[in-house]
Amino acid sequence: MAAQIIDGKKVAAEVRAEVRMGVDLRREQGKRPPGIAVILIGDDPASNVYVNHKRRACDEVGIMSRSYDLPASTTQFELLKIVDELNADPVIDGILIQLPLPSHIDDSLVIERIDPGKDVDGFHPTNVGKLALRIPALRPCTPFGVIKLIESTGQVCKGKHVVVVGASNIVGRPMALELLLRGATVTVCHRFSADSAALSRQADIVIAAAGKPGLITADWVRPGATVLDVGINRLDTGKLVGDVDFASVSEKAAWISPVPGGVGPMTVAMLMMNTLRACEKHQL
Ligand code: GUN
Repeated sequence: MAAQIIDGKKVAAEVRAEVRMGVDLRREQGKRPPGIAVILIGDDPASNVYVNHKRRACDEVGIMSRSYDLPASTTQFELLKIVDELNADPVIDGILIQLPLPSHIDDSLVIERIDPGKDVDGFHPTNVGKLALRIPALRPCTPFGVIKLIESTGQVCKGKHVVVVGASNIVGRPMALELLLRGATVTVCHRFSADSAALSRQADIVIAAAGKPGLITADWVRPGATVLDVGINRLDTGKLVGDVDFASVSEKAAWISPVPGGVGPMTVAMLMMNTLRACEKHQL
């Protein structure tokens, strides 16, 4: 039987509507709107698309967004200076630096320079550490969005065996922490795992975040499992595909998130939610 589709566009629109209400309430109370600085360095076409989605979402929910479109030649010193200025800027609640950065810039150093209270991506060691210690503050957008999508199917994570395929700093690792927080049993597979397919076949829920088009085929999935696809890969043909072979897996799974229209819109929606939350903490 064909799987039911997890509609990320719909759930993301609901999250954005909730943020819009929060922003409107602030306005009614005579407060300023939340503000975010969105920094894009270089001209990577995919990053350009993602940043445009983020800026458009800000307009939709009433968040003030300030754009920094910087050349690939921007030095680390120049970027750190901008971060310092934004950290001190009272109308900026969130600082988003689109990754990846050019290779001459040290991502970790730049992320650590962001005030953890303005780290709306949830990448700062303080925010990742708080999540690990079960005192979440600003949470990484994509993993938080995946949790919302799982819950949108009516399932709970508690007690489930969830296999996360991929162990990146942006998705796999914080995803495992979010799932642990909700009481799931978590297995993280990565390039050194002996048999990821065998591990994945044991899962109630599979989360694909490896960045490899079509890696997860039907033989990775137990009948009736739920499959979330975090991958966004552009093929040479121009087609956008996930890490999951949708055609075969959707015949076996009970629930599946598509690409596009699954996890992607949730990342942007959770960024909006984080920016509102960061702003409400500042209370200015
Ligand atoms: N690059 C890929 N995903 C992300 C994300 O969620 N945030 C940022 N800043 N960069 C990314």
